[in-house]
Amino acid sequence: MDSPTVRESSTQDGLAPDLPTKVHGLVLRELTIMDADAYYKLLDSNRGHLTRLGDYQAEGKATSEWVREHLSTASGASLRYGIRLNDELIGRVDLIAVDPPRYGTGYWLGEARVGAGYATAACAVLYDYAARTLGATDIFAGVTHGNAKSVALLKRLGFEPVTEFENYTRFHLSLVR
Ligand SMILES: CC(C)(COP(=O)(O)OP(=O)(O)OC[C@H]1O[C@@H](n2cnc3c(N)ncnc32)[C@H](O)[C@@H]1OP(=O)(O)O)[C@@H](O)C(=O)NCCC(=O)NCCS
Repeated sequence: MDSPTVRESSTQDGLAPDLPTKVHGLVLRELTIMDADAYYKLLDSNRGHLTRLGDYQAEGKATSEWVREHLSTASGASLRYGIRLNDELIGRVDLIAVDPPRYGTGYWLGEARVGAGYATAACAVLYDYAARTLGATDIFAGVTHGNAKSVALLKRLGFEPVTEFENYTRFHLSLVR
C-alpha cells in the first residue's frame, strides 16, 4: 500500500502542519477550501449519523455552498483538521481556541469508519500537538447524553466528566502533568 502524502512544514503555505497518527496511513491535515468537494460528499453521506443525537445540525443540512463558505472562513487561533486515511477524507477533528491555553474540541468520523480506533488516534495526536506546540493546558468536550461512543473515546484518552448540564456532560483533560 502507498504511504499517504505528509507535508513536513507549515511555514511556507501558512497552514497548520500535517500530524501523522500512530495508525499507519492515518494523518491529520488542515481542512481548507481545497477539500470542499470531498468534505461535502462526506457530509452528504453522513447526515443521519451526525445529527442522530441533535448535534451537528448545520452539517446535517449542508449544501455545497454552505461547505464552501464554511471552509473559506478563517479559523483564527482554532485548528480545523481533516482526518485522512491513505489520503481519503474520513472525518474531522477540531481544537477550538475558547480561552487559550484552555481549548475545546469536537470530532466525528464517517459512519463507515467507526469502530477501528481512528478517532482515538486522531484526537490523541492533536491534543499532544496542542500541549507541545501551543502550550495548551486543558481540553474540554461537551457530550450529549446518550452518546456512548463519544464518552468511550474520551475515557480512552484520559478525559474525566466534570459538569452535568441538562442535555450534555462536560469532560475535561488536563495536559499538565
Ligand atoms: C464519536 C465517534 C467519533 C466515535 O467513533 P469510534 O469509531 O467509536 O471511535 P474510535 O475511532 O476511536 O474507535 C473506537 C472503536 O474501535 C475499536 N478499536 C479497534 N482498534 C482500536 C485502537 N487501536 N484504539 C482504540 N480503539 C480501537 C474500539 O474497541 C472501539 O470499538 P467499540 O465501539 O466497538 O468498542 C463516532 O461515533 C462519531 O463520529 N459519531 C458521530 C459524531 C459525534 O457524535 N461526535 C462527537 C460529538 S461529542
